[in-house]
Amino acid sequence: MSCACFQVRPMTVADIPAALALWRVTEGMGLGESDRPERLAAFLDRNPGASAVAVLGDGTLVGAVLCGDDGRRGCLHHLAVARAQRRRGIARALVAHGIESLKARGIEKCNLFLFADNVEGGRFWQHEGWVARGDLTVMQVNVAGGATPGAAGCAC
Ligand SMILES: CC(C)(COP(=O)(O)OP(=O)(O)OC[C@H]1O[C@@H](n2cnc3c(N)ncnc32)[C@H](O)[C@@H]1OP(=O)(O)O)[C@@H](O)C(=O)NCCC(=O)NCCS
Repeated sequence: MSCACFQVRPMTVADIPAALALWRVTEGMGLGESDRPERLAAFLDRNPGASAVAVLGDGTLVGAVLCGDDGRRGCLHHLAVARAQRRRGIARALVAHGIESLKARGIEKCNLFLFADNVEGGRFWQHEGWVARGDLTVMQVNVAGGATPGAAGCAC
């Protein structure tokens, strides 16, 4: 997708430093271990063409979103648009890019994570037709560190 002011195109490994720079200064983002450049590169490799960036005519990156799927459900992460470029349709175009790529891969539904205190982010998603699943809770375990859950052996 493109217009006179910005262009949306697939994110490449070369975009990772600029995308990270944007995410680091964007409110409502939660960056962690999984956002090391090599992990992001692996994500792009596993989900070819699905993630997207928005760039201005001079190549400045002003928006980004990660998009991927596990073969069953899609997921969006880290949607962000530079403050000075908001309310110009950039986020909508980034999301549309991701959704089209999921459709092309036969994925029927897409999820995303939103911090509970990100009220503005929530308003955007709601405005765009996304629905909060009040019947679900995100649960997580640290796979890299500590004991493997359920592998403690016999309790007796
Ligand atoms: C949320 C965010 C990505 C929106 O980016 P944007 O480029 O300004 O959004 P768009 O211009 O594409 O907006 C698309 C539509 O959503 C509306 N919209 C945008 N931000 C909105 C908000 N905070 N509340 C309500 N509606 C909003 C726009 O008015 C537009 O609707 P319209 O065409 O009917 O007027 C941007 O504000 C941002 O980066 N926020 C911080 C990061 C964040 O919270 N990300 C989401 C959580 S993962």
